[in-house]
Amino acid sequence: MCGIVGYVGERSAQDVVIDGLRRLEYRGYDSAGVALVHEGAIAGNKKAGKLANLEKAIAEEPLPVSTIGLGHTRWATHGAPNDRNAHPHRGYGGRIAVVHNGIIENFDSLRGRLEDDDIQLVSETDTEIVAHLLELQVESGEDLTTAMQRVCRRLEGAFTLVAIDAQDPDRVVAARRNSPLVVGLGEGENFLGSDVAAFIEFTREAMELDQDQVVTITRSGVEVSNFDGTPASGRVYHVDWDLSAAEKDGHDWFMRKEIFEQPRAVADSLLGRRSRSGALQLDEMRLSDQELRDIDKIIIIAAGTSFYAGLVAKYAIEHWCRIPVEVELSSEFRYRDPILDYSTLVVAISQSGETADTLQAIRHARTQRSKVLAICNTNGSTIPRESDAVIYTHAGPEIGVASTKGFLTQLVACYLLALYLAQVKGTRFGDEINQVLQQLESMPDHISAVLEKSEQVYDLAREHVDSRSVLFLGRHAGYPVALEGALKLKELAYLHAEGFAAGELKHGPIALIEQDMPVLCVVPPRGRDQLHDKMISGIQEVRARGARTVCLAEEGDSSIEPYADVLITLPRVPVLLQPLVAVVPLQLFACELATAKGHDVDQPRNLAKSVTVE
Ligand code: F6R
Repeated sequence: MCGIVGYVGERSAQDVVIDGLRRLEYRGYDSAGVALVHEGAIAGNKKAGKLANLEKAIAEEPLPVSTIGLGHTRWATHGAPNDRNAHPHRGYGGRIAVVHNGIIENFDSLRGRLEDDDIQLVSETDTEIVAHLLELQVESGEDLTTAMQRVCRRLEGAFTLVAIDAQDPDRVVAARRNSPLVVGLGEGENFLGSDVAAFIEFTREAMELDQDQVVTITRSGVEVSNFDGTPASGRVYHVDWDLSAAEKDGHDWFMRKEIFEQPRAVADSLLGRRSRSGALQLDEMRLSDQELRDIDKIIIIAAGTSFYAGLVAKYAIEHWCRIPVEVELSSEFRYRDPILDYSTLVVAISQSGETADTLQAIRHARTQRSKVLAICNTNGSTIPRESDAVIYTHAGPEIGVASTKGFLTQLVACYLLALYLAQVKGTRFGDEINQVLQQLESMPDHISAVLEKSEQVYDLAREHVDSRSVLFLGRHAGYPVALEGALKLKELAYLHAEGFAAGELKHGPIALIEQDMPVLCVVPPRGRDQLHDKMISGIQEVRARGARTVCLAEEGDSSIEPYADVLITLPRVPVLLQPLVAVVPLQLFACELATAKGHDVDQPRNLAKSVTVE
């Protein structure tokens, strides 16, 4: 997830672009860059690190005055966050400058074709390829709009692209597929941005585009077309948000915005994971198939919400791969003198990649000759750098302190790891792996369906604003979901909340139940095992003691109705994947309850986003 700005008009493009980037910096902040058209050439600069580094560089070495340009603030996906990989990228002859948000999935095959033309890549990014392809087209006589249409037809994946041509000082061209792009409509000037925050200072008239469309902005107008060149039109609307709401896409909190971004984050984290033959591939696995076959034990280490993702992973890996998995809090791991050797794979899950407990745990594991694989959302952070292999999640930056889309994308990475191990070890057939991959690919739609019912959850949360204690129950993969639901409520609403394995209730915790105490129950889907029926027994037990039961159960499960005071329906998905949908209402519940209590949801008391002390 990156921030993109484009401008053409009468103002200083550098000022408009840098202002826009400042307001989009929440979308990514590991490098920033700007490019302008000036006297038939591209001028620009780009720097690793925060936007301030770019501003400093420009202050020291000013760019020429120009009224057309583009800019980018990066959240690295392909390639480390350094100056070379920062955007904009230029074509081989320096005529084109392009910025990109997303992932080009057929990057490898396109790169091969460019190398055949003797075009050498100077960065490790997928974006640079687009710059060269566009340059080839404009050099052959096409205008930038036609070139963009043609190049986009060859791209697979998700992308927003914005490009300028040194020889066309009146045109900025952009394209989108499954990645955000809005047009800002001005008088004698027009804007492009990843969201309206990029230009809200200058205009509140905006235009939304459909999938697979190209838009050309000039000083005098805006033209939209499809990738095949046929004319199209965008939907014009008026933005009535203030600036701070605009940064949050109209939401009151970054956390709420991030909850609603989850379908996109899950889809992005699944992108580019299949080879041409359809087999699962993991780009930065860096462990050979033989090394993976030699693994006879997995230890997952993580903290907080990431630890709960690890608990879900245990169910998936053991079921699909038949490898024993231990899940351990990273702060406890090295102090118990764990038994590790070269055949143990340690999986470190960390959204930030900087959590000190997890970092120290992987350092310890490596001294014991174990291989370490990181699951991380932050390209170039310490934990993946110190690991033997990495699976990056593509949630984009998480600003809300409480993890939401980070968690869902960690689950996706865990499922991918489990399926990959099953593929390499041959514990599951290709057809079966393909079927689960297809089910995973349908999850963004299922998550969207859950989000559509947010009002029901908000009403429920507001009803419970005076509750003193809330319990969460789950079984199997629903148990970590119950733990996560309780953690969200503790950290945001400062409310006593606990998650339990439903079967464990009768061994003690049931004594906590009081009249009208809310108990949120994650009901497993109906299946061949007895999980579902056993869960119903647990729900009956708490209800008989006066609890108010809020049941999250799959659509069509009428057997739960007699025992549910409130029923929240979930899409029908397999039990192992159910956490991806079941946790969403619990996130919304905590967010809304904390809002109703008047708390700062994005920055809960006593917490920090990245815990870099042990
Ligand atoms: C809770 C939360 C924390 C983090 C934990 C680990 O909402 O965000 O519990 O999950 O601090 O952080 P990472 O994943 O960055 O290692």
